[in-house]
Amino acid sequence: MAVEIGGIGHSVQRKEDARFIRGRGNYVDDVKLPGMVYLDIVRSPYAHARIVKIDTSKALAIPGVLAVITGKDLVPLKLEWMPTLMGDKQMVLPTDTVMYQAQEVAAVVATERYIAADGVAAVEVEYEPLPVVVDPIKALLPDAPVIREDRAQKNNQIWHWEAGDKAGTDKAFRESDVVVKQDIYIPRIVVASIETCGMVAQFDKIDGQLTVWMTTQAPHAIRTVIALVAGHLGLAEHKIRVISPDIGGGFGGKVPVYPGYVLTIGASVLTGLPVKWIEDRSENIQADSFARDYHITAELAAKKDGTMRALRVKTVADHGAFDAAANPSKFPAGLFGIVTGSYPFEKAFVEVDGVYTNKPPGGIAYRCSFRVTEAAFAIERLVDILALELKRDPADLRLQNFIPPQAFPFMSTLGWEYDSGNYAGALKLAMDKIGYAALRREQAEKRKRGELMGIGISSFTEIVGAGPSKHFDILGLKMFGSCEIRVHPTGKATVRLGVKSQGQGHETTFGQIVAEELGLPVADIEVEEGDTDTAPYGLGTYASRSTPVAGAATAVAARKIREKGKLIAAHLLEASPDDIEWKDYKYQVKGVPAKSKTMAEVAFAAYTNHPQGVEAGLEAVDYYDPPNLTFPFGSYICVVDIDKGTGEVKVRRFFAVDDCGTIINPMIVEGQIHGGLTMGLAPALFEEINYDKDGNIQGGTFMDYLLPTAMETPSWETAKTTTPSPHHPIGAKGVGESATVGAPAAIANAVVDALAHLGVRHIDIPITPWKVQRILKEKGVAE
Ligand code: CDP
Repeated sequence: MAVEIGGIGHSVQRKEDARFIRGRGNYVDDVKLPGMVYLDIVRSPYAHARIVKIDTSKALAIPGVLAVITGKDLVPLKLEWMPTLMGDKQMVLPTDTVMYQAQEVAAVVATERYIAADGVAAVEVEYEPLPVVVDPIKALLPDAPVIREDRAQKNNQIWHWEAGDKAGTDKAFRESDVVVKQDIYIPRIVVASIETCGMVAQFDKIDGQLTVWMTTQAPHAIRTVIALVAGHLGLAEHKIRVISPDIGGGFGGKVPVYPGYVLTIGASVLTGLPVKWIEDRSENIQADSFARDYHITAELAAKKDGTMRALRVKTVADHGAFDAAANPSKFPAGLFGIVTGSYPFEKAFVEVDGVYTNKPPGGIAYRCSFRVTEAAFAIERLVDILALELKRDPADLRLQNFIPPQAFPFMSTLGWEYDSGNYAGALKLAMDKIGYAALRREQAEKRKRGELMGIGISSFTEIVGAGPSKHFDILGLKMFGSCEIRVHPTGKATVRLGVKSQGQGHETTFGQIVAEELGLPVADIEVEEGDTDTAPYGLGTYASRSTPVAGAATAVAARKIREKGKLIAAHLLEASPDDIEWKDYKYQVKGVPAKSKTMAEVAFAAYTNHPQGVEAGLEAVDYYDPPNLTFPFGSYICVVDIDKGTGEVKVRRFFAVDDCGTIINPMIVEGQIHGGLTMGLAPALFEEINYDKDGNIQGGTFMDYLLPTAMETPSWETAKTTTPSPHHPIGAKGVGESATVGAPAAIANAVVDALAHLGVRHIDIPITPWKVQRILKEKGVAE
């Protein structure tokens, strides 16, 4: 019975793959409308410059070019600036100054994509270069040029955020036997999803209806933002329809509002024609929001016996020229407060300064719940450095310090209530599975022979499921989950959600939750997302929030249906509702299992034979406001070998034990972890975006920005423990980002472990062969 239903815990094949593997996905670029025209963007070659003149005449003379839009054209429409989701503002197009290389300067609308590109090449812009600030630490110095002259505050600090007990932390540091301190730079990286950003906008001048198809992870929020930004031009929220069709990877990069979106909508309103804008790969890498870019100084205080007592972290966060991340309003540094990790510190104090530089907007939460990757990396690196200092085995030191299972729910010193966890259980399982003791013996033998082998551990804790509305909002919009379920007369169901899958398999897993709760086969349940005309209002999918919030809303909405169904079942079975129980996916008369009705039978009766006093129909909506976030965790162990000739790091083995509470679909969760591990390997060893002193991007194409392929990716080994969330209706926690959060520290720790006997304590990621070889040369061991 259970297998047929395909409920929770079953590796049901992904429904959506039927179209994906046949090449029948429907992406924004697949949308083709009659009379559609194309938009392309002129971008700045300078990182900071005054615009002296823009000459559009040559572009406008090209046959097929319909319009060229500049910042000055947007001024009368009050559209030259737009609000960012972080409460800052961002230029749609500059009127006089550009602030980063590849910033949008003008837009060309043409009858064909290639003509639009020719138009872009023909727009002549005269610039007068200005001093460039690329280093956020220098940007904070009093004599640094002010990047955002539009602000009342005449320096480059965006905000200062802090949490914890400063005096108490300082005291704990003074009283501790051992203090370790490390500067850690987590470089700028780019999401690089397969599909770039894009939009098709269609404005109907007659009825004032705007329809947009776009690559957004949060369609409802976008609809509200459009109404807020362009309401004065007659675009009203009830006349705006935002459709997110299939999305080829979001990972946080498709949360912000990019100027290209505003320009595409503006161009459709201006021309009355449908307009398409699809970013090319270079634009995507060079101009869209970036992740990480955290300059961290972290200190950990401990007793001689290894008991960790206090943590002090100071961070400078490079947000580029506009603060356009999508962190919850109350937490400008996101959930960096999870930096105490899996350990019960007595005291901690954390401060973060957000800083403007002449770079594209940064700070997006790339496959991590708002800065959790940065936090996990800092604490897990620091624990290894403490282990080195104390000459302790890093596994042993962690096992000594973990928050014990009986301490949950656990209130961290920085104020987060961890819902559940068994950290030692996960680490011990990983150690057992990978054969930790034998690996340490092998390492000792190899070290005697001069071979470089390292073992690295990362025992991370995440914080996902934004969020309880009491704490979380974006631009004032509260963060909750939403689900609407309609059970049709023949026992088939349509489920609509306020989140939006970008490849995570929601059409399957949310169907499984309904299947489990209602006893309907998963094949009979259609899950729809991403259309603001049909889906209930929701804040979208990012930060592994779908399962914690929308998954919960789905279970609760289904339970509402089950409650109503009970009245109908009682009527059909001629019994009192009090005598009806839900058992084995059916309504049964208590103690008389033969007298039962299925949900499909009840659904038919809901429309054909409902009892007097009970409304016809069988549907429910739930807006779920979670009481808390969920705290998935895991322990990863990585084994590396280092080539003393080339400096190349080879990940020989990587064992990941994850715990995301109740698992809805084990196969999908495993897929999420495999993908996440690869996205964790990437910044650890390969990916990095740099800028030269003039603000020119280094690594702005895939020739230079090294994404791992199957060649570089090891064969991941995985296992799980299951510690359900006590407050989630089905006990599930999020998982989409766990592996990206946990993996980089395990890899970095393994590399440092391989070199620790040479006196190496830390290497900033990405740990490239060049960096390693330089260290090997310095230490006199290079071959
Ligand atoms: O918000 P997002 O969908 O990116 O992340 P998530 O909630 O962690 O879910 C990622 C995928 O894994 C979805 O298809 C979930 O339904 C599935 N999942 C699961 O099967 N069991 C869990 N405990 C958590 C997620």
